[in-house]
Amino acid sequence: MSSNENKVALVTGASRGIGAAIAERLARDGFTVVVNYAGNAALAEALVEKIEQSGGRALTAQADVSDPAAVRRMFGAAEAAFGGVDVLVNNAGIMQLSSIADADDANFDRQISVNLKGTFNTLREAAKRLRNGGRVINFSTSVVGLKLENYGVYAATKAAVETLTAIMSKEMRAREITVNAVAPGPTATDLFLDGKSDELIARMAKMNPLERLGTPEDIAASVSFLAGPDGGWINGQVLRANGGII
Ligand SMILES: NC(=O)c1ccc[n+]([C@@H]2O[C@H](COP(=O)([O-])OP(=O)(O)OC[C@H]3O[C@@H](n4cnc5c(N)ncnc54)[C@H](OP(=O)(O)O)[C@@H]3O)[C@@H](O)[C@H]2O)c1
Repeated sequence: MSSNENKVALVTGASRGIGAAIAERLARDGFTVVVNYAGNAALAEALVEKIEQSGGRALTAQADVSDPAAVRRMFGAAEAAFGGVDVLVNNAGIMQLSSIADADDANFDRQISVNLKGTFNTLREAAKRLRNGGRVINFSTSVVGLKLENYGVYAATKAAVETLTAIMSKEMRAREITVNAVAPGPTATDLFLDGKSDELIARMAKMNPLERLGTPEDIAASVSFLAGPDGGWINGQVLRANGGII
């Protein structure tokens, strides 16, 4: 029996992309998985069915993470179904690229509300409700280090997530709860690929010395490490999973 057995992991933004790969991986690791999504119910339900067909346990939970009441309800649903939550993976996020000059108010507000407020909303619930011995894994981006043009607002929301990560790891003192962040580099999902030319994608894929894009499974492997027993001594850190781009 895996030491993750009987533990419950809530993964936000798990209907597709990196979040879906994380949900599948954590289910394979033995966790019961709550598959959160915003709008894509069919994808989330198909993923739960796939996990169950492979012998895992999972449940969908719709919630826009930017809505505090919806986030509270989602934690309540997870607790009602499975008795509690042990691991929170704050993967849900959006990216709207623009120079600072051209970023309009809606662009700024939406990225703040999903990436920063959404992460805060789930962290606040987790701080009060996670079972002792739990794990929190937030999502940043390697662009916080790379500081590429047009990523200003997006990277700023993720820099704030890194700060919340370090401070919450201290606030969890004596509860054996670790709080870390994973900061992927360019990874082949809708978020990265949408709106980019093939030429730009190829150029960005070669920026790291392994000369390829990350896959959602590459990132899920880092989350699996931090969520599982081998990651237990890592706390308050940012793990840049990016093939060496920075
Ligand atoms: N891909 C990259 O290159 C890259 C690099 C660095 C960091 N990251 C970070 O990695 C995380 C995952 O990104 P991804 O590339 O997998 O993105 P993606 O393919 O666009 O998937 C985004 C996921 O987040 C969900 N979501 C979006 N807004 C939400 C909200 N308000 N409430 C709840 N769920 C919401 C979506 O749900 P629906 O399907 O229901 O819309 C979807 O499941 C993000 O935090 C992103 O910033 C990605």
